[in-house]
Amino acid sequence: MATLNKNSAPKNIINNKKVMEENDFIVSKTNTKGIITYCNQIFIEMSGYTKEELIGANHNLIRHPDMPAVAFKLAWDLIKSGNEFFGFVKNLKKDGGYYWVFAYITADYDKNGKIIGYSSFRRKPSNAALEAIEPVYKLLIDAEKKGGMKASGELLGSFLAQHKTTYNDLVMNLQKS
Ligand SMILES: Cc1cc2nc3c(=O)[nH]c(=O)nc-3n(C[C@H](O)[C@H](O)[C@H](O)COP(=O)(O)O)c2cc1C
Repeated sequence: MATLNKNSAPKNIINNKKVMEENDFIVSKTNTKGIITYCNQIFIEMSGYTKEELIGANHNLIRHPDMPAVAFKLAWDLIKSGNEFFGFVKNLKKDGGYYWVFAYITADYDKNGKIIGYSSFRRKPSNAALEAIEPVYKLLIDAEKKGGMKASGELLGSFLAQHKTTYNDLVMNLQKS
């Protein structure tokens, strides 16, 4: 059976938002290539896929086109090197709708300290964070359309410098706001 991935995702993007509950946690685990090996019930409910569809699928199955590629590059650079990633992610549901999460991704290790996969835990993002981050993502996507990830990387760098902050501090402060 072919692995489900972003090419299998819906093309009919609809402006239909699903909101996480205050105490919900969405959990998934992947192998080192980003293939889903575990997901919890809330992931199933939020994404609209069945457990059978999700296990073995590439995690980019739920990649939303409104997400700038640079966000995922940053995430993978951090987690592959054993660092943690925090970020706001818009996810694509099976029906073409979407849901926003405040995501945390970290590496899983074997007893010899080798990375054997990754785990992600998400909770409801603050409304203030989403209001702040959506226009930034739009600017990053526009930059990517014109100049690829080099352009969005430079834009992100200058945005952080202008606000005298780091990526992680920005994200944590937004979630607290
Ligand atoms: C543990 C883990 C969880 C992930 N969760 C998501 C997610 O919820 N949504 C998403 O779009 N990408 C998620 N990703 C990133 C995807 O692997 C992928 O990089 C991203 O969807 C962009 O795909 P693309 O680079 O093929 O376009 C996750 C990766 C890992 C390792």
